[in-house]
Amino acid sequence: MLLLSETAGKVDDLMIGIREKRMNIQTHRAIGVFDSGIGGLTVVRSLMERLPFENIVYFGDTARVPYGIKSVETINRYALQITEFLLKKDVKLLIVACNTMAAVAYQAIRDLSPVPVLEVIEASAKIAVDRTRSKAIGVIGTPATINSNAYARAIHLLDRDAKVFSQACPLFVPLVEEGWFDHPATRLVAEEYLKPVMAERVDTLVLGCTHYPLLKPLFQDITGGQVRLIDSAEAMADIAADLIKQKNLGNTGRRPPEYLFCVSDVPYRFQTIGERFLGRTLPRVEMVRLQ
Ligand code: DGL
Repeated sequence: MLLLSETAGKVDDLMIGIREKRMNIQTHRAIGVFDSGIGGLTVVRSLMERLPFENIVYFGDTARVPYGIKSVETINRYALQITEFLLKKDVKLLIVACNTMAAVAYQAIRDLSPVPVLEVIEASAKIAVDRTRSKAIGVIGTPATINSNAYARAIHLLDRDAKVFSQACPLFVPLVEEGWFDHPATRLVAEEYLKPVMAERVDTLVLGCTHYPLLKPLFQDITGGQVRLIDSAEAMADIAADLIKQKNLGNTGRRPPEYLFCVSDVPYRFQTIGERFLGRTLPRVEMVRLQ
């Protein structure tokens, strides 16, 4: 038999549930975040901190990562498959966490999506232009991101006088996935990649890849604290929070949010390495097959 206070508590819960349902027809829908694999969890981490009541569905294409060294056609095809998958999950907003997909497939994703789409490049470019004093901006990313010239275009749209010095860094993704954040080998590789960019006396460096925020302390050390590092995950969370506010999309419910993580390969590796990227344990990971 229930005590009177327990019954009253259950009725309260029910009323809150009914009220939340009425108010949240749209806003309780999840934010869909997608990436080529694990790296987008750095963006999820920032979103969880910045928007603690938002439900999130994440898709990481772990069976086909890395995207950064693939062709434009392939990246586009994969990106559209992921978009379709997340739209079926009824998300209210799509976030392209992967710099490579943002650089190559953003327009195609937008054309397919009836919900707003945010991507990391514009977000980081805006912060870089705001923060630079010398107007000499460095950008590091995967070969696909750098070859697309998307960062230079986004920066020049905001400031025609800015000078952009880009460097493709294909070795960083595997080093980070190995967990070698401050390994001597990573330091050597980073010094080599950053040398030409630093020679241009940049005062701002855009970390244009999901994996690079994990190397931030190392980059800070190598650049001697003279250079502002732009973390695209943080930039993304700020822009998402602004858009959600502006469009009144914020979840008005105050229950603990639901997080669902979907991957295209067996989740074991994602689960173990992902926790490093997310900075907390990964709750629900499901394996799905994309058509
Ligand atoms: N997520 C990718 C990016 O931000 C890095 C990993 C990959 O190459 O797929 O560019």
